[in-house]
Amino acid sequence: MPMPRLRTALDSLAGYRPTDRTRGPHHLRPLSANESAHSSLPPVLAAVAEAGLDIHRYPDPSCAELTRELARRHGVDQDRVLVGAGSLALLQAMFHAVGEPGAEVVYAWRAFELYPVLADLAWMRSVRVPLSDETHDLAAMADRITDATRLVLICNPNNPTGTVVGGDALRAFLDRVPPTCLVALDEAYFEYVSEPGVSSGLHLCDAYPNLVVLRTFSKAYGLAGLRVGYLVGAAGLVTQLRKACLAYAVNTVAQHAALAALGIEKELLRQAATTVAERDRVRKTLLADGWDVPDCQGNFLWLRLGDDSGAFGRWCLDAGIAVRVFDGEGIRASIGATLDNDAFLTAAKQWRDQPAAVTAGALTDRCGA
Ligand SMILES: Cc1ncc(COP(=O)(O)O)c(C=O)c1O
Repeated sequence: MPMPRLRTALDSLAGYRPTDRTRGPHHLRPLSANESAHSSLPPVLAAVAEAGLDIHRYPDPSCAELTRELARRHGVDQDRVLVGAGSLALLQAMFHAVGEPGAEVVYAWRAFELYPVLADLAWMRSVRVPLSDETHDLAAMADRITDATRLVLICNPNNPTGTVVGGDALRAFLDRVPPTCLVALDEAYFEYVSEPGVSSGLHLCDAYPNLVVLRTFSKAYGLAGLRVGYLVGAAGLVTQLRKACLAYAVNTVAQHAALAALGIEKELLRQAATTVAERDRVRKTLLADGWDVPDCQGNFLWLRLGDDSGAFGRWCLDAGIAVRVFDGEGIRASIGATLDNDAFLTAAKQWRDQPAAVTAGALTDRCGA
């Protein structure tokens, strides 16, 4: 039977492959998706229950109340804030807004694994600029901007390496970007940044009207399952980007839960601070055990294991732990609950303590992969 004619881009697109977090009937320790380690607090659960009474109605398509509250908190006019079904949906809207055959998007590599997927779906050519010392090489990225560049993505902190770029470097970079080229600063993990001198790009939006800053409720605010994020940018730009978003995409429960989360923000940021302390503890232990770990500023750690990445991922799986494997490059382990982190540390130590004769190849046999 002939297939309906679809876009040829789909043939070469790998698509997103989430890490399987079950093994048979067992749930693995969930260190693969960079979620919050903390379960929802009562005020958020109460808001979810109350909003549930209204789910026979369409949601407010303008997310008015949440938009108003976000604008107030960031000290900007409401028409500069756009709420979406996760920051991923907003990224997709940006790609749709600029994408056309021949257009290019510049981003560091490796960065968030869905950037290339969004680029392919939007007919855009990806220009990947290698990381330097696991960090964005902003000068090299600026060098790659041409007349064809419609979008530049900066993931800060970078997923999966966790490194950050500071305000001065960012400003110097933005000075080199033509004002006709859109720049997206993806700050999904910003609440976990503890490095002094690294500030959010939100305060740069006034000076650079081609800049939008993306934030999410999925990480420190603990609402990954509800899908809500937002961006801040210049009013004219936000008006246009809004047209590229699917109407009614942010559901009522998500809108109310996000408002409730903002209401207990101090507590959530305190939780994020405990995750940061835990991240630093896990990194310190890994360093003491001989691992090379960059100074990660997200709620995760990055181990560049190269060809051993797959085998190490399976080793963790055997220990009942799901981590994110980037084959041939490295693995990313989220910072979870203390017991889960300790299990990861034990597995990592046992990996290093193996006799030298046990090679990655032998492990592959042992793990039956
Ligand atoms: C860097 C980065 N940006 C965006 C997203 C998407 O987040 P959201 O849940 O808001 O769609 C993620 C999710 O992991 C991410 O790592």
